[in-house]
Amino acid sequence: MLHAARSCIPTWVILVCTVTVSPYYCAASVQKATCSVQDGRADCSHLTLSSVPQDLPGDITALDLSHNRMTAAPPDSFKRYTGLLHLSISYNSIKTLDEGLCRNLPLLQTLNLMHNEVHLLQKENFKYCSKLTWLNMASNRLKLQEEPFSLLQNLKYLDVSMNNLKSARLGSQPQLPSLETLELKHNNFNTLKREDFSFLKDSPLHVINLMSSVSLQKLEPGCFKPIPGLRMLFLNGSRKGFMFISDLCSELSETAISAMSLRNIGLTNLTNKTFSGLKKTNLTLLDLSGNSIEIIEDGSFQWLSELQILNLTGNGIKHLTRETFKGLKMLKNLQLTKALVKSQKPSLPVIEDFTFQPLSNLETLVLQNTPFVNITENTFKGLMSLTDLDLSWSNSIFTSKKLSSKFFVSLADSPLRKLNLEGNALVGIEPGSFSCLKSLSILLLDRNYIHQTFSGKELEGLAQLQELHISNNVQQINLTAQTFASVTDLRVLMLGKSLQAETLNQDSSPFWPLSNLTVLDLSNNNIANIRENLLEGLENLQVLKLQHNNLVRLWKTANPGGPVLFLKHTPRLVSFEMDFNGMDEIPREAFRNLNQLRELNFSNNLLNNLRDSVLDDLTSLKVLRLEKNFITSVRPEVFRTPMSNLSVLVMGKNPFDCTCESILWFVTWLNKTNASVPGLRDQYMCNTPILYFNHSIMDFDQLSCKDMAPFQAFYVLNSTAVLMLILTALIYRFHGWRILFYWNILINRTLGFSDAKVEEGREFEYDAYVIHAEEDTRWVERRLVPLENETCRFCLDDRDSDIGMFQADSIVNNMRKSRKILFVVTERLLNDPWCRQFKAHHALQQVIEASRDSVVLIFLQDVHDYKLSRSLFLRRGMLRPSCVLNWPPQKERIPAFNQKLLIALGMTNRLQE
Ligand SMILES: *[C@@H]1O[C@H](CO)[C@@H](O)[C@H](O)[C@H]1NC(C)=O
Ligand SMILES: *[C@@H]1O[C@H](CO)[C@@H](O)[C@H](O)[C@H]1NC(C)=O
Ligand SMILES: *[C@@H]1O[C@H](CO)[C@@H](O)[C@H](O)[C@H]1NC(C)=O
Ligand SMILES: *[C@@H]1O[C@H](CO)[C@@H](O)[C@H](O)[C@H]1NC(C)=O
Ligand SMILES: *[C@@H]1O[C@H](CO)[C@@H](O)[C@H](O)[C@H]1NC(C)=O
Ligand SMILES: *[C@@H]1O[C@H](CO)[C@@H](O)[C@H](O)[C@H]1NC(C)=O
Ligand SMILES: *[C@@H]1O[C@H](CO)[C@@H](O)[C@H](O)[C@H]1NC(C)=O
Repeated sequence: MLHAARSCIPTWVILVCTVTVSPYYCAASVQKATCSVQDGRADCSHLTLSSVPQDLPGDITALDLSHNRMTAAPPDSFKRYTGLLHLSISYNSIKTLDEGLCRNLPLLQTLNLMHNEVHLLQKENFKYCSKLTWLNMASNRLKLQEEPFSLLQNLKYLDVSMNNLKSARLGSQPQLPSLETLELKHNNFNTLKREDFSFLKDSPLHVINLMSSVSLQKLEPGCFKPIPGLRMLFLNGSRKGFMFISDLCSELSETAISAMSLRNIGLTNLTNKTFSGLKKTNLTLLDLSGNSIEIIEDGSFQWLSELQILNLTGNGIKHLTRETFKGLKMLKNLQLTKALVKSQKPSLPVIEDFTFQPLSNLETLVLQNTPFVNITENTFKGLMSLTDLDLSWSNSIFTSKKLSSKFFVSLADSPLRKLNLEGNALVGIEPGSFSCLKSLSILLLDRNYIHQTFSGKELEGLAQLQELHISNNVQQINLTAQTFASVTDLRVLMLGKSLQAETLNQDSSPFWPLSNLTVLDLSNNNIANIRENLLEGLENLQVLKLQHNNLVRLWKTANPGGPVLFLKHTPRLVSFEMDFNGMDEIPREAFRNLNQLRELNFSNNLLNNLRDSVLDDLTSLKVLRLEKNFITSVRPEVFRTPMSNLSVLVMGKNPFDCTCESILWFVTWLNKTNASVPGLRDQYMCNTPILYFNHSIMDFDQLSCKDMAPFQAFYVLNSTAVLMLILTALIYRFHGWRILFYWNILINRTLGFSDAKVEEGREFEYDAYVIHAEEDTRWVERRLVPLENETCRFCLDDRDSDIGMFQADSIVNNMRKSRKILFVVTERLLNDPWCRQFKAHHALQQVIEASRDSVVLIFLQDVHDYKLSRSLFLRRGMLRPSCVLNWPPQKERIPAFNQKLLIALGMTNRLQE
């Protein structure tokens, strides 16, 4: 209750805040409030700034002011930051570039002014910018006047794309002696004139990007002459480019061109003349992707003897012959993805036998999504260097739908290492299909319809195989103990969503020969039954994927024969995935010795309370995923060890119980951990108690628990005290008199009866003057008189009053002679006027006069203190406790009473100081 009441306030505050402030807060949380500075770099982007902030450290070297609202860049506002090397004012609305800018920033190396509104650009603008190496003026409204760039002696990169420039000529005098890259994309000139690049005569230019210069359609002879060092030319997207493509090649013949990108320029056919101009060059990369090439004349590429990469992705080629690739003797990488036209069966494109024979150096051949009529025994003949063949998604090529050796005989001489047969609608694999692929290391058979029992013959001959992927077939593959007998060096085996559910429920595991296996994927197979020996011998296994199965029974305590601890054979496991299995229990021994495990995925199960220390062996854990379970409490007994080194925790969407016992430790951990916890604010919600329902666990008030500790101690102390008190009271109530009796005897044995001085006793004749009601005479005679002996004498009015003396005098006299005055208190005494008024009054007076502590009360009845004080002017509290005695009703307590009485009478009369 205590903590509930305390937590009320913050919760209430949060509620109100959320309701009233959230729109503003949301906007604010998207936008940063201030610049962030790190390692001398200030990021002031996206702040709606209209001027340069003046409160940044003076020694920053980089300043990003992009995406703001600046309309000018006044040089003086940069005065504080003279050490700047990099400045970006891109995506603002700056209209002019002040020469003072570079004067105030003498070290500036890169300047990004992309996407502004700079119009007039003159020589003066860059007067002081001699240090500049990188300048981006793309997407402005440039109007160049009088050689604006002529002073940029060190500039290596210049971008003037998207400025609607009418010419590529940026100057008339030779200039920019350091320029290497010129970006001229998306401008508006249709001709490259002979003199256009003459201003670059002295530049070591390597790259020109003329991408999407939409209207470019004419090249004047000699236009590239001034720049013989040109190595890369991008002409992508110039739709009319194809018209002058052979001119272009002739123009480039005198250059050092080595890479040419002609993507998406509308080429429809290649002739044996098209690239002839490149004969003298050393072109290594030619990108012709995204065109509409249908016809490639024989010998089209014969000029490109140095070509290494040819990209024909995305064309509509109908026919490839043994002459098509003639001359490409250095080609290493041929991209034919979607390069052949997709059409119906009768007119399927044809790849003739021996088509690839000229490509004796080809290493990578990609025929992805490239249907052609059929694979014959000569289709891939001559590919002496081929290591990587991609035939994925070309399903029409395997006419029989069943793989057999005839498809791959033409590859017998290739050192093929990787074969991709993904997505080919295959239904089965005949024995020995791969027997000629002796060096194959990676085989991909994912996304087919393979359904068969693998006897082991299918994989024969693949002695070098290290990776086998058969995921996403139709869950109809049966394994036997011999399936992998010929591929014992396997490292990666992917069988997700492909196995028949019961196939692993057999005495000997199909995986027994795979001692080098490191990755095993058995996910999405609906497997319910496996044996404990399934992973026996896989001592190198590092990754085990078992998610999306139905393994819940295996780890139940109630499982016949006990939980199936299949992880005990895999001590090197690094990653274990068990999501979506309906698991509601983790046995105590499940993760024993897995001290190398770094990632544990257990999300989307039904876990509730985990046993203490069940995760304690996971000392290397870095990633823990437990989201969407039924975890209510995150206790240190379970999670302290596995969470001690974590870098990623995913545990959201559990019904957390936000009480001190369940969540305090977790919230404390979250507050101080360096681990990344995605979705912490909105996916970690309290389910109970009601007070916190649907609040983030980060709203949990930890302080309420901190108070609990002293409170608990206090509670324990308190209740102990109360218990002790009750116990004491009970003992006292029933046996107190006995205890006191023995206590007194003990005291008296050691100290003697009286603490009164010996002399004191001698002044008095009697030990006590007894005052009692007439009616109690009998009690006095029966109980008190028998106590008399030589050391103890009572003065009784009836017996000891001086004969002949006036009664009152006699009383006074006797009182004087008595050391103590003993009242036998009953209702009757209080009603006896004589006793009450005279004797009591006198006795009291004497007590006061003599300042003696000399009154002893014996209660025969319970008498109210109030009455006592009214009648006898005495209160119990005025007397020492030992001088107030109660006559016990029980007979056996009478000796104790007598003892107490004697002690009371033996007390000294002096007031204790
Ligand atoms: C190649 O394309 C050009 C331009 O579209 C056309 O004029 C020429 O006839 C074509 N050549 C052949 C052989 O189809
Ligand atoms: C180019 O092809 C034509 C026929 O289309 C042929 O006559 C000519 O010899 C070929 N030239 C070369 C260099 O292969
Ligand atoms: C092409 O390469 C060869 C040998 O590497 C070299 O001698 C020749 O100058 C190069 N040609 C051009 C145009 O760069
Ligand atoms: C070939 O071109 C395609 C499409 O333009 C591109 O995605 C791919 O990266 C290119 N491949 C190579 C090897 O350059
Ligand atoms: C497939 O290739 C064989 C030669 O290996 C040929 O006889 C047959 O006609 C081809 N099939 C089709 C459908 O063209
Ligand atoms: C796999 O094994 C099961 C049970 O042994 C059998 O019913 C099924 O037909 C087998 N599937 C194939 C494709 O051999
Ligand atoms: C496992 O790998 C080692 C080292 O690569 C190799 O020597 C050994 O033959 C392999 N084991 C099997 C069963 O292939």
